Parts: sequence; C-alpha cells; structure tokens
Amino acid sequence: MKNELSAALIRAVSELGIDASSVALDFPENAEHGDFTTNVAMVNAKKLDMNPRVLAEKIVAEFDKNKPSSIKSVSIAGPGFINFVLDVEAVSKNTQEILAGAPTKISDIGQGKKVLVEYSSPNIAKPFTVGHLRSTIIGDSIARILSTLGYSVIRDNHLGDWGTQFGKLLVAIEKWGNLGLIEKGEDPIKKLVDLYVKFHDEVDRLENSNDDKLKSEAAELEKLARAKFQILEAGSDQKIVDAWKICVDISMKEFAKIYQRLGVAFDPKRGDTQIGESFFVTPDKIEPVIEALDSKKLLKKSEGAKVVFFGGDDPKKWKYPPLIIEKSDGASIYATRDLAADLYRLNTYGSVGQNGGQNLTIINEVGAEQSLYFRQLFETEKMLGWFTDSGRVHVSHGLYRFKEGRMSTRKGKIIWLDDILDEAVARASKINAESAEDVAVAAIKFNDLKRDSLQDIVFDWDEMMNMAGDSGPYLQYSCVRAKAVMEKAKGLGIVARIGSGPGEGSTRPKIAQLDLLERYLLRFQSIIEFAGASYKPNIIANYLINLAALFNSFYSQVIIADVKDPEAAYKVAVTQAFAKTMERGLDLLGIKVPKKM
Ligand code: ARG
Repeated sequence: MKNELSAALIRAVSELGIDASSVALDFPENAEHGDFTTNVAMVNAKKLDMNPRVLAEKIVAEFDKNKPSSIKSVSIAGPGFINFVLDVEAVSKNTQEILAGAPTKISDIGQGKKVLVEYSSPNIAKPFTVGHLRSTIIGDSIARILSTLGYSVIRDNHLGDWGTQFGKLLVAIEKWGNLGLIEKGEDPIKKLVDLYVKFHDEVDRLENSNDDKLKSEAAELEKLARAKFQILEAGSDQKIVDAWKICVDISMKEFAKIYQRLGVAFDPKRGDTQIGESFFVTPDKIEPVIEALDSKKLLKKSEGAKVVFFGGDDPKKWKYPPLIIEKSDGASIYATRDLAADLYRLNTYGSVGQNGGQNLTIINEVGAEQSLYFRQLFETEKMLGWFTDSGRVHVSHGLYRFKEGRMSTRKGKIIWLDDILDEAVARASKINAESAEDVAVAAIKFNDLKRDSLQDIVFDWDEMMNMAGDSGPYLQYSCVRAKAVMEKAKGLGIVARIGSGPGEGSTRPKIAQLDLLERYLLRFQSIIEFAGASYKPNIIANYLINLAALFNSFYSQVIIADVKDPEAAYKVAVTQAFAKTMERGLDLLGIKVPKKM
C-alpha cells in the first residue's frame, strides 16, 4: 500500500517538474491526522518560488487525477503537509494479511547485502560488565532486525582474550593462585578476577610505601608481567599457553550461562562466530596489515613506535590524534588486532579489490568511551581503501548509572550480572512465579532498548517493572491479555474474521479505538525498515509502546468477545492481529511473551 501510494505521488510531482527523490512518505506524529504524510511541497516550494500550501494544492490536484483506490481522502495541513487517509478496505486487507501469517522475512530491502554485527565482546578473566550487557542486548536486537529485513547477517562475539593484562594475571596466578583448584572449585571466574585485582592492589601498596626497596619491587612486578605477556605472544612456553587456555575456558563457560539466561545465542550452525582477539595476532594476520599500511605510506615512526597520522605532521591540522600500530617493545596492540580482524572479515565475507569490499557492512556495538578510537580505526580503513563511510558503523551505548542503595557502585565493588538478573527474577516472581525468568529478562532488555542507545540509563527497578508504563513486562502483559481474549472467544465459538459487509462475515465496527489500532498496525513494516536503516531498535520499542496503549484503550472501552455481537468476529480478528504484531515486535527486541502472567 505504501509502495502504491508512493508511486502515485511520484507520478503526480513529476508532472510538476519535481524531482522524485525528494518524495518521502512518513507517518503523522498524531495518528488521527492520517495514515501517511509527506513534506514534499515544503521541501520544493522555495526552489519553485511558490507558497508551500499553494504547491501542496497543485500536487493534490495532480494526485487526484490518478488516485489509487486504497486512498480514501487527501488533505493539506499546517504549513503544507499533505496527509493521506487509507480506505477502510485497505486497512481491513492489512489486518487480514497479518492474520494469514506474515512470512518470517518482513521486507526485501536487505536482499543480497551482507552485514557483520559484532556485539557483546566481553573480556576473558574479567567480569561481564553492564557495558557488555548493553552491547549484547542492543547488538542482538540489531542482528534480529536486519535478518528480518532480508540481510544476510553474521553475528560475531569479538572476545577480548588478548592483551598485556594476561601478563599480570599469569603472574598473579603463579604467585598467589592454583589454576587447577580454581578451575574445579566454585565461582572460578570470580577467583581469577580476585587474583587480577590483587596484582593491582599489590603494585599500589608497594608503590605507595615509603621504602625504596618496596617501590622497586612494584616496578619488578610490572616488568615480570610484561615479560610474561611476551612469552605468551611468542607461544614458546606451552605451560603459559595452557594456563591462558584454561582462563579462556573458564570464562567461556561463564559467558555461555549468561547468554543462555538472556536468550542470546552465537550459533555456529547459523554462521555466527566467536573469534577472540588472539586469533589476529599471528604473523599471517598482522603482516598483511602492516604491508597494506606501508604500501599506502601511512606508517610513520614516532618515538620508537609506528603510528598512523590523520592530517600530516602538524598537530594543529590533525583530525584525530595519531593511532599507534606497533609499540616499541613489539607487543601487539588493540588497534592492530582490530585492523587484522577487519581485513580477515573482508577476505572471508566481502570481496576486497572488487568494489573495495563494499558488499559488506561491519557494525561494532561498543560503549561510547571507545568512540574516538573507532573514528580513528574507520578513518584508517578508509585511507586503506577497505571501506567507504557507510561500510563501517559504530553503534555506541552510554553508561548504566546506579542510584545509591543496594546496587550502588562503591569504589572497587564489581557489579556481577548474575546478581542483577537474580534480583530482577525475584521482583518478577511477585508478578508471576512461573514466568519470572522471561519477565525479568524482558524488563532488563526493554529498559535498554526503549531509549536511544547513546543515552545513559539510570537503573530504576520501579521503572523497569512498571506494569502500567513503558516497560517490558507491560508489553508482555498486553500481549498475554489479548491472547486471553482470544481464548475466551474460542470458548464462545467466535472465530476471528474480517469482512466489510454482513454477508462476507463480520462487519467492521465503527469504533474509534478499533479504527486507530487497526491503522497503527499498518505501520509495522515501515517501522522495522526505519529501525534497520538507522540501527535503532528503540524505534520499534516506541512503536510497541504506542501500539499497546491503543490496544489497551480498545480493550477497556469495548467488550471484544460477546456471542450476541455480530461484530465480535472482527473485534477478535483485530485483537489477534495485535497479539501477533506485538509478539513479533518483541521478538525483534529479543523478548519472549510468556504463556501466563
Ligand atoms: N572487549 C572490548 C571491551 O570490553 C570490546 C571489543 C570491541 N570490539 C572491537 N572490535 N574492538 O572493551
């Protein structure tokens, strides 16, 4: 319907010499203003030296000559908006299509396009932080949205399993721990984190003493850690490599439990990967990067290190600060591993040389604190000719802020994700014990996805669990409620049915709440397309909030399933279409609808 309207509109404006590319169809903010709106008259008025409302009238006059039958009326509003109202036949037809069972793929806009969505990416032997939680929730939703739009999606968990921190951890294990016991004991990951923290505490303690001998011991510890990491990188000592592998194992088991609880999967059968940074440190991965940088003359020596400059030698002309590629001690670094990862991804999923690999888009869902870094990385990859602007995307997220109280972040106190999940489950079981896990996860996910990812989140249990507000549990409950109505209808022998006249089945009731709800259902596909194009799941989340509000107002005003009501079949049909759309929409956010609540 949108395509038909758009074609008719383009035809009309072309008659007036207006460029088709300036035609954009939107949804009116206020659903009562119509089903679609366009600002094409306002956008082109100046160029044509016309008053926008006058131009709008001309466009409407042209449009009326070939008005599609699905459009009931056209009106001009405000400074020159053109609003369209769909005919009820078209509205009913859409509801019917929803009931007929929409395909799993909702649109074709991603057809033939590949996108790698990298998200979660926790660090080995470190806590799975709330930052990683946000990345997991947002990245998983983006991957779901893109695959429903027909993109071929590769999900990648880019594990932080390499870096100088492993030197420190391995020294701490050697000095104060027993890896064999840790591995078999309880909470192994917490023990590893304790050891890592102990290394830092010990260095701090020695450094802050007044004794020069102790101070030099601190320096000695740091030196030892650097040396350990060097040995690990060289791969020359099997015992050290094995110890690192055990740390990886311990962490992966822990992460798997978290993903299980969150309903997030990295499934090799689907083509998903979990490739750690360590995969990209071998010469066959790193050297091609250095060669590529060298051949473009991008590598400059600076204080013993090799760096990439962004805008020549003069700091005043720098677009960004320089990016270090090789340290003087030869240890591999984060940025170089990222370049190697992206080259590997291009070679594996894209086609380098051809179109500069532009048939692949890579999205990194990573916290906003790495924004500058990703700009440097993308700029470098652009200079290398690997990607153009749209080929690299950083979807960044803000922080979690905790109010004072039980979940406060006292200095040095780590927030363990399990504790948050357990608390959420405890609160959700007050709603319904059976569905507590699903409701808890919904509360946490929706609390994140309802806002632009860039925003910080103030952690507020009451807001998250609010059964009457914009929360995950509220949306689940709306859906469960609609399904209960359907059950009741079934019991009464009312079959959902859509017809425009009495002979064809059920008549369409003239109820304002039903009309608004049914018309709002029409937006679903475009909403998903908008969300996909901008990598913003919050567009879907907000649509679902409005959709639930419309359903709940319908539900509270009208008796839906009444055997004596000749329009009941239509009402039940719209209820069912709502439930299906809500369930589908929540699924795109990674939220399950429980059977009971
Ligand atoms: N492991 C990193 C961290 O926790 C995030 C990795 C982000 N992805 C990347 N390609 N650098 O900070």
